[in-house]
Amino acid sequence: MAETWVRMVTAQTPTNIAVIKYWGKRDETLILPVNDSISVTLDPAHLCTTTTVAVSPSFVQDRMWLNGKEISLSGGRYQNCLREIRARACDVEDKERGINISKKDWEKLHVHIASYNNFPTAAGLASSAAGFACLVFALAKLMNAKEDNSKLSAIARQGSGSACRSLFGGFVKWNMGKFEDGSDSLAVEVVDEKHWDDLVIIIAVVSSRQKETSSTTGMRETVETSLLLQHRAKEIVPKRIIQMEEAIKNRDFASFAHLTCADSNQFHAVCLDTCPPIFYMNDTSHRIISCAEKWNRSEGTPQVAYTFDAGPNAVLIARNRQAAARLLQKLLFYFPPNSDTDLNSYVLGDKSILKDAGIEDLKDVEAFPPPSEIKDAPRYKGDVSYFICTRPGRGPVLLSDESQALLSPETGLPK
Ligand code: DP6
Repeated sequence: MAETWVRMVTAQTPTNIAVIKYWGKRDETLILPVNDSISVTLDPAHLCTTTTVAVSPSFVQDRMWLNGKEISLSGGRYQNCLREIRARACDVEDKERGINISKKDWEKLHVHIASYNNFPTAAGLASSAAGFACLVFALAKLMNAKEDNSKLSAIARQGSGSACRSLFGGFVKWNMGKFEDGSDSLAVEVVDEKHWDDLVIIIAVVSSRQKETSSTTGMRETVETSLLLQHRAKEIVPKRIIQMEEAIKNRDFASFAHLTCADSNQFHAVCLDTCPPIFYMNDTSHRIISCAEKWNRSEGTPQVAYTFDAGPNAVLIARNRQAAARLLQKLLFYFPPNSDTDLNSYVLGDKSILKDAGIEDLKDVEAFPPPSEIKDAPRYKGDVSYFICTRPGRGPVLLSDESQALLSPETGLPK
């Protein structure tokens, strides 16, 4: 009789945003970068991927579902991750259910994978980072691989570079490494999420009509054509990495903000230095930068840092809750929603910041005096789709509650 059991594991992995950017590969297949990078992990309560992986002798091929829709696993990046993790599989023994899988069985057994993002994939918020990190982490647990999270990060890296930084919470550094096989190109924790828990992160999801150049294509073109990138990777980033680690360890917000903004701006400068030039930020992005710069200047000391990835969305890191509340007041003043949107669907995530800001209703925003640091304070209704309030968060975890699994324990198909 054919065996019918299904064994599964569910994991949750955060997304991350770089404060010193990764941009440019020295090896496209292994995904080896031209410089180190540092990121902050975002609270999975607001932005994360949940992935269930299952194995059963009844599965006839590897299959994957993303947000409920079946997708192909034939791409090189998926294949590389699956191959690398299978190579590290170990014996699994489940006495209770009488399941025995030996190390060599894993070569023949097929897996089912179901993955779900708790935020809109289309918003362009690094869904591939959380996705590949979660895939690798969950498969490692299913297959009883003994590698630590740093070693696993070197596998997730082969799915998407930024994914390697999602294997830890807090602040994370991706060491570019120097070996040709990429074995030392992996992520390490700088500090955990409790180290600097004053920080509040507000993401402005900026409305955009155009389809942006993918990171993969964009960075390839930059490597091929930008001399500024070579200067950045060789001369600028190595010094910045040391200063950034120092700023994080000392919770030195002024230095942190200065480095974060400068590095985001330099990343967008190398995009502009690419032939043909790549534009990721739009007018709204530029207005958000100007709002942050003017406020920081008027306060005499930085209250907020900004950073932008390969798209127009702004990630704003406020020094503490008080600064975040004031920032949110300003953002809602400059970027009010379209009239058909209510506050509850305009500010997502940790809504307690709204309370701190004294905002219960969008009408409250109208009652504030316009921010004094900008003259004539123009307003840009509808230019931001919504805001997400969050904070630095933890790394990957296993979810043991079977009700959170995305695959059925009987069939191994999506629930
Ligand atoms: C601008 O990790 O998405 O977000 O390695 O080709 O999959 P691939 O690219 P990806 O690039 C991320 C670029 C960035 C900066 C960063 O996250 O460091």
